[in-house]
Amino acid sequence: MGVNLKGRSLLTLLEYSSEEIRYLLDLAKALKMESRSKRVGKRFEGKTLAMIFEKRSTRTRLAFETAFAEEGGHPIFLSPTDIHLGVKESIEDTARVLGRMVDAIMFRGYRQETVETLARYAGVPVYNGLTDEFHPTQALADLMTIEENFGSLRGVKLVFMGDTRNNVANSLMIACAKMGMTYVACGPRELAPKKELFETCLEIAKETGATISYTSEPEEALPGADVVYTDVWVSMGEEGKEAERITLLEPYQVNRKTMEMTGKRTTIFMHCLPAVKGREVTHEVFEGKQSRVWDEAENRKHTIKALLVATLL
Ligand code: CP
Ligand code: NVA
Repeated sequence: MGVNLKGRSLLTLLEYSSEEIRYLLDLAKALKMESRSKRVGKRFEGKTLAMIFEKRSTRTRLAFETAFAEEGGHPIFLSPTDIHLGVKESIEDTARVLGRMVDAIMFRGYRQETVETLARYAGVPVYNGLTDEFHPTQALADLMTIEENFGSLRGVKLVFMGDTRNNVANSLMIACAKMGMTYVACGPRELAPKKELFETCLEIAKETGATISYTSEPEEALPGADVVYTDVWVSMGEEGKEAERITLLEPYQVNRKTMEMTGKRTTIFMHCLPAVKGREVTHEVFEGKQSRVWDEAENRKHTIKALLVATLL
């Protein structure tokens, strides 16, 4: 049986099998090639996508909006000041109204529970465009970027440096586990991956041949790394924790020494962006030859378009 994702939501990535992720990556690759011909399509003609943003976004908004609109679809941007989302109207009720009027919903915001409630009640596909806990569409773009660089995913070693229990790290850990990769979370114990998710990923790894581990020691994590990945030290919604985070995370900054510690010249640097240069990564590494951040940002669009095509057509 071939993969069929029609009607599916994307909430954490845990709910997608390795084969389904493989399918999305292959589709994204084909769509990227197609995009180079600047062809304008009509795949989403007559369809509407509601995009709810409680938090700011550049890449995710642009990727969903342009991928949908260039194929004739109508994306609608909704901020919490525009609609009654959990204020005066419950999330369940908003979901049911949206589901009667649109073909799909993207949600970016705080609580994972909100996107899950939307999915439970809307009756149309719901995509998680980032919550406090997960950022699954980012992980898809990251897998695509890694595969473009190394030709495959299996056995590729990714070290995530810094806040290893944030949304981006959580989704990457799941993605690496699903695709048979080696994932090392490297950061302070106070920000180690949550036990439950870590154990879930260890279980997935048993089936896929992936290796998932955590260490607080960069010297232990970095040797042999193919990808060094980092993200901001203070995520959206955590403002106020800055001073505490700087103290905890300074030893995990990605700099020239970090890249040298991999012992490989072929190691690439990745970051979901936006980046605070001079903090989690030096200007030198960010702008250097090993950095793939712009390919990674572009791949958000191709992977999101693949998700839309696979789940809506
Ligand atoms: N990486 C990412 O999600 O970027 P935005 O916050 O700009 O959407
Ligand atoms: N961890 C970051 C990711 C931004 C794309 C945040 O949540 O702010």
